[in-house]
Amino acid sequence: VSGETHSIPRHVAIIMDGNGRWAKKRMLPRAAGHRKGIEAARNTVRAAGELGVEVITLYAFSTENWGRPADEVSDLMGLLRHFIQVDIEELHMSGVRLKIIGDYKVLQADLVKMIDAAVAKTAANTKQTLVIALNYGSQAELVRVAQQLADKAKSGALDPNAIDAAMIDAMLDTAQLPPPDLLIRTSGEKRLSNFLLWQLAYAEFLFVDTLWPDYGKAELAAALADYAGRERRYGGR
Ligand code: IPE
Ligand code: IPE
Ligand code: MG
Repeated sequence: VSGETHSIPRHVAIIMDGNGRWAKKRMLPRAAGHRKGIEAARNTVRAAGELGVEVITLYAFSTENWGRPADEVSDLMGLLRHFIQVDIEELHMSGVRLKIIGDYKVLQADLVKMIDAAVAKTAANTKQTLVIALNYGSQAELVRVAQQLADKAKSGALDPNAIDAAMIDAMLDTAQLPPPDLLIRTSGEKRLSNFLLWQLAYAEFLFVDTLWPDYGKAELAAALADYAGRERRYGGR
């Protein structure tokens, strides 16, 4: 809900970038960077809960990441499978609700089943929400919304003049979630790479040089301190 400023962001979205460069610096295979990246994700989610962040969204796999070599894609899927298997119990015990955005249904059938089970298991948890963006691309998400709206309008069920921002919001994968207050990207890159283009309309942005595998509680605490010093205006004065 806009117009209110809180010193702690309710929703933090993170573009976890730099696993490959972290591994390269150490002459390790990229997969080692991704493995360490999962640990960073685990620590950061835990820290977010401790620091009072209600929703944390992690960009884990983009619609464009299919363009990577097949063995890297398969490493990433394997790690994701491992994360869901190993971490869901602790997340559940800590009161974390898991939510997925993106077209994850096209992933391998056993992985989809595992994800659906984890989402169902944690659905009633209220302490914290962990959103994982999987096969997520903001443009694909908006194209889907446009197609659904066009279908309804064509059938006469919807007056095009009735389309407004709230209607679009409710049709996005992020419906029911507050918009991100703070967007963090690691590794020094300063771009969105097709992440939450609509949802970030009034978010504060923070770009840090830390490579994702080195990210954790201290880095998140520093990000929150930076956020606390920002003045949000939402176009007002
Ligand atoms: C982020 O690290 C992980 C994913 C995109 C899945 P990268 O793999 O993009 O690492 P760099 O950018 O090559 O260092
Ligand atoms: C963005 O990182 C996607 C994820 C973090 C999952 P990339 O490393 O894929 O983005 P580009 O290619 O540098 O823009
Ligand atoms: Mg990258």
